[in-house]
Amino acid sequence: MTAQKTLWEEYLKPIITLFLDKDALIKLRHDINWEAEGDRLSNPNLSYPTYYSSQNFHGIQNGYLSIDAAITYDAITQYVVFPQEKWVREQLIEAVGGYPNRILDLGCGTGSSTLLLKQEYPQAQVTGLDLSPYMLVMAEHKAKEANLDIHWQHGLAEQTPWESASFDLVTATLLFHETPPAIAKAILQEAFRLLTPGGQCIILDGSQTSLRQATWITNIFEEPYMKAFAAGDLQQWMQQAGFEKVGAEPIFWINQVTKGMKPLPDRLENSVQVAHNLSNVLSPAF
Ligand SMILES: C[S@@+](CC[C@H](N)C(=O)[O-])C[C@H]1O[C@@H](n2cnc3c(N)ncnc32)[C@H](O)[C@@H]1O
Repeated sequence: MTAQKTLWEEYLKPIITLFLDKDALIKLRHDINWEAEGDRLSNPNLSYPTYYSSQNFHGIQNGYLSIDAAITYDAITQYVVFPQEKWVREQLIEAVGGYPNRILDLGCGTGSSTLLLKQEYPQAQVTGLDLSPYMLVMAEHKAKEANLDIHWQHGLAEQTPWESASFDLVTATLLFHETPPAIAKAILQEAFRLLTPGGQCIILDGSQTSLRQATWITNIFEEPYMKAFAAGDLQQWMQQAGFEKVGAEPIFWINQVTKGMKPLPDRLENSVQVAHNLSNVLSPAF
């Protein structure tokens, strides 16, 4: 029995495919030794969680673990992030306060937001982490072309290799709608651990309120965890993880930048207690 195609696969993807520069994509496939570069960037000790390896994200077989996903991601994303992809990404950069010196971009994918962060904060040490080695191959390729020095790390956003308080800014763009809510919450807890007190966590993703109103969007894309993401409340999840000063700004209605700060030491103990109480009240099962 063949699986039924989603509306995205059946109608939208073929239309967008008409606009893709296929010669450029074929050239990219040939110019890079994807298998060898993927192996080089892979962490051989990593096992992929089933929530990730079992899903054909974006209707592509093997999802982000396929070379095709990495090659086509940017070409397609420019048409599905409204009203204009770069402008939307810049809204995350504009939400950053002060000058962070150590920046981590979780679920960095092909590095489009990571590169913008490095361009905005050239003195900062910038790291992009992703679970797909091929997305990282593409990210590294783009960074080299732009002459940007960025460290790329293969790994799980919810369980990173760094010590606590290693970063001043942790970001994630378009990651959370691609993970089950329990994993999104675990990623926020990890971001909280990784941040220095006073550090910022900034998330750019779909507005959950708008996605709940416009169910046609979640129906069209039928991404595996998008409906579960839309049913949740990212600001509440951040508070549960211990963040304070949590707030959100809508970006062209459909997207949202959500921001929180790790409390300074005198408030940290209090915040951890509040987060603990909140998580008992709001999500006793998690
Ligand atoms: C929709 S893409 C977003 C990529 C990039 N941040 C952007 O803005 O274009 C989601 C990315 O999250 C990565 N990802 C999903 N779950 C992850 C996890 N648990 N840990 C690390 N990366 C993850 C995927 O491999 C994919 O590259």
